[in-house]
Amino acid sequence: MENFVFQNPTKIIFGRDTERQVGMEVKQYTDRVLLHYGGGSIKKSGLYDRVVASLKEAGVDFVELSGVQPNPRIGLIREGVELCRKHGIRFILAVGGGSVIDSAKGIAVGVPYEGDVWDFYLQKAVVKQALPVGVVLTIPAAGSETSPASVVTNEEGALKRDIGTDLIRPKFAILNPELTFTLPPYQTACGAADIMAHVMERYFTRVKETDLTDRLCESTLRTVIKYTPLALQNPTDYAARAELMWASTVAHSDLLGTGRIGDWASHMIEHELSGIYDVAHGAGLAVVFPAWMQYVYQEDVRVFAKFATRVWGVEPDFADLESTALAGIERVKDFFRSIGLPVTLTELKIGTDRLEEMAAKCTERGPVGNFKRLDREDVHRIYRLAL
Ligand code: NZQ
Ligand code: ZN
Repeated sequence: MENFVFQNPTKIIFGRDTERQVGMEVKQYTDRVLLHYGGGSIKKSGLYDRVVASLKEAGVDFVELSGVQPNPRIGLIREGVELCRKHGIRFILAVGGGSVIDSAKGIAVGVPYEGDVWDFYLQKAVVKQALPVGVVLTIPAAGSETSPASVVTNEEGALKRDIGTDLIRPKFAILNPELTFTLPPYQTACGAADIMAHVMERYFTRVKETDLTDRLCESTLRTVIKYTPLALQNPTDYAARAELMWASTVAHSDLLGTGRIGDWASHMIEHELSGIYDVAHGAGLAVVFPAWMQYVYQEDVRVFAKFATRVWGVEPDFADLESTALAGIERVKDFFRSIGLPVTLTELKIGTDRLEEMAAKCTERGPVGNFKRLDREDVHRIYRLAL
């Protein structure tokens, strides 16, 4: 096990009706917020009205900024920065999924900064200050509700880039599984793939003697594998939605990564897909992750055989661990297919024309991944394997 520091300060408020507490939570910081949300799902579901009522009841004034798109754009973040400055706002309340939260985090770092907020995403500037962010989560997926990351797209150059700093971990996250009853099946499935990817990025490590976190990762994966089909069959199954919601936060809170060195190549390879083709992050991962597995499993066949056996229940063949490992990778693909996700670039209608460009962009700062270091040619081969 590696040395580690673990500190995840986000206060989690979990359960039915908890969004009604949002006003009181915000009130501990301020009496004026930017209420930030997406394309309208929160209005349709009635969540918007409940959040507004709770803010009013607590005496919290608000200015609104809606219209966050999946794969959030830097343009709206710049607008949010101006709005906060104009109204003297010092707190961002994100009501939505990873895209809304990441956009809120972008605004939070942009307001106290004199330059253009995109500088942070290009690593031209380092975040030194951020406004506090609070969250009411509506989709279990990205884990941004407790993470130190914000992932944003700049359409100029089709770049999707991230920042990571503890300064943007949300102060609180309200997690009511009932809010996810309205999720369309495809979004539910994309969320499940992202949760699993966050676990698998940490699980596939070259660090030895990580038994506790191996088991925590395996349990989290098995939970998602069990409950995703149940949530798809019955979208208002509270128990299934609750398991998925907590799994999403646990998966990316970094508890599962303690003492390990995660890989993260699949995420970087996927971000190039979302950046250029605007695919849902979870769908992109369902395509990229199995291809990455196929490309790297020989680096440590035993880890992949363990994954196949413990997570997917594949009968181990001790005389031929490679076939056990490969069976596990097939099970991952079968599962993604079974919940309605694509597992090839062709299904996403992506051909070969921009694969080299994506491989170059993905590795522009050097090789990616830790399980196996991948250079530009490796990444290009993974895209081709995913075709
Ligand atoms: O915009 P609205 O109308 O709200 O619709 C959203 C959106 O179209 C809809 N939705 C969300 N909750 C709903 C709902 N529809 C009905 N009922 C509900 N309860 O779902 C769509 C997708 O929302 P989005 O926020 O994009 O989903 P997700 O949470 O998967 O976020 C994806 C983004 O997070 C980034 C991804 O790259 C992607 O841009 N990530 C952020 C991370 C982080 N900050 O730590 C880590 C992740 O690996 C990931 O990269
Ligand atoms: Zn992800």
